[in-house]
Amino acid sequence: MAKNQDGYLSAKESRRISKENRRITDQYEKRRKRRNVPESEYTTQMKDPANAVEFDNLHTYFFTDTGVVKSVDGVSFEVPIGKTVGVVGESGCGKSVTSLSLMQLLQRPQGQIVEGAIRLNLGNDKAYDIAKTPADKMQGLRGNYISMIFQEPMTSLNPVFRIGAQIDEVIALHEGEGKTKEDIKKRTIEMLEMVGIANSEGVYAMYPHELSGGMRQRVMIAMALACNPKIIIADEPTTALDVTIQAQILDLLRSLKDRINSSIMLITHDLGVIAEMADYVVVMYAGRVVEKGTVEEIFAHPSHPYTIGLMASKPVVGKKVDRLYSIPGKVPNPVDMPNYCYFKDRCELQLPCCSGEYPCEISLSPTHKVSCYRYYEENRKAGE
Ligand SMILES: Nc1ncnc2c1ncn2[C@@H]1O[C@H](COP(=O)(O)OP(=O)(O)OP(=O)(O)O)[C@@H](O)[C@H]1O
Ligand code: SF4
Ligand SMILES: [Mg+2]
Repeated sequence: MAKNQDGYLSAKESRRISKENRRITDQYEKRRKRRNVPESEYTTQMKDPANAVEFDNLHTYFFTDTGVVKSVDGVSFEVPIGKTVGVVGESGCGKSVTSLSLMQLLQRPQGQIVEGAIRLNLGNDKAYDIAKTPADKMQGLRGNYISMIFQEPMTSLNPVFRIGAQIDEVIALHEGEGKTKEDIKKRTIEMLEMVGIANSEGVYAMYPHELSGGMRQRVMIAMALACNPKIIIADEPTTALDVTIQAQILDLLRSLKDRINSSIMLITHDLGVIAEMADYVVVMYAGRVVEKGTVEEIFAHPSHPYTIGLMASKPVVGKKVDRLYSIPGKVPNPVDMPNYCYFKDRCELQLPCCSGEYPCEISLSPTHKVSCYRYYEENRKAGE
């Protein structure tokens, strides 16, 4: 039986929620699946043409039988062209849902973008709002403009097809026009070599289960980069790998990025990876961005109590501690978010004013922003 926050939902209540959800999601789906939508409906303008993607007040909800899960609840940040943006945050804070919203790969019909915009820079002064782009247009954008490296290569590769056939298919679909089968195979072999697979001809004819984890991850990267995408989303690309392979994969990603001047949105729990790879950092908590800034700002001056806790919980070589710090408490239920700061129930630095409505974003520098009442207070004192 479905469970709500206080106990169990009655079958009647659950049916009522499902029916209501179906009514709402049907409307979104109908809109998304329309054909021949005039381009003007989803054409937009980048706020800054130096950005590859701009998330602007994005709200992505899942309409589940136990209620509406507000997975992403007002997220705004930019990914500049040629830069790497690291996205960090506790498990379940909406990192993957944010990136899946950009790919339009949310689990449908439950998952829907209900508010906000995702502006994708197509170059030549042209941009699309992905939140409004119809499904049939997305096919041409995925692979060519945006590509995703998934966390678990074994679940993303098809176990019954050979590696070569799977990469060939991607190239044929996106760049196949005018190319013969041999041309496509040549390009696949090139890609396998580019990601550092020595026995490329051999691997071309292998099945995913015949490869090691690191090789499968390289194949995923080859597939994601086969069409020179402008934006690469790497969702925990190295979590399943040992540290030496992890370092190789990160190096590879960095050099490929520089070669094709793409932008990377790097999602990870690993602050070490962020420090090494990212130019900018976005810290998410419970579906919101709580702090963002350049990598130097976030590491040298973490300002939100959650970021401060996150930094304190990472081990430091040479520093002896009995026990690593862990942030007390747990994330609020996404079906029933509080109407005050989402971090308040766990915050050890809270102030009397923190019971007010959710804090808005304060600028600590042109690039460093934080949503926390502590900085209201400082700003107020500074103004006194
Ligand atoms: N298909 C779905 N149906 C219902 N809720 C979902 C679905 N997918 C994600 N969610 C919810 O959305 C929230 C954000 O999930 P998301 O996968 O983005 O987390 P994450 O930050 O990527 O976590 P992790 O670090 O563990 O990968 C979670 O509360 C999750 O339960
Ligand atoms: S607003 Fe208050 S409760 Fe929230 S993180 Fe800042 S200090 Fe803590
Ligand atoms: Mg995730």
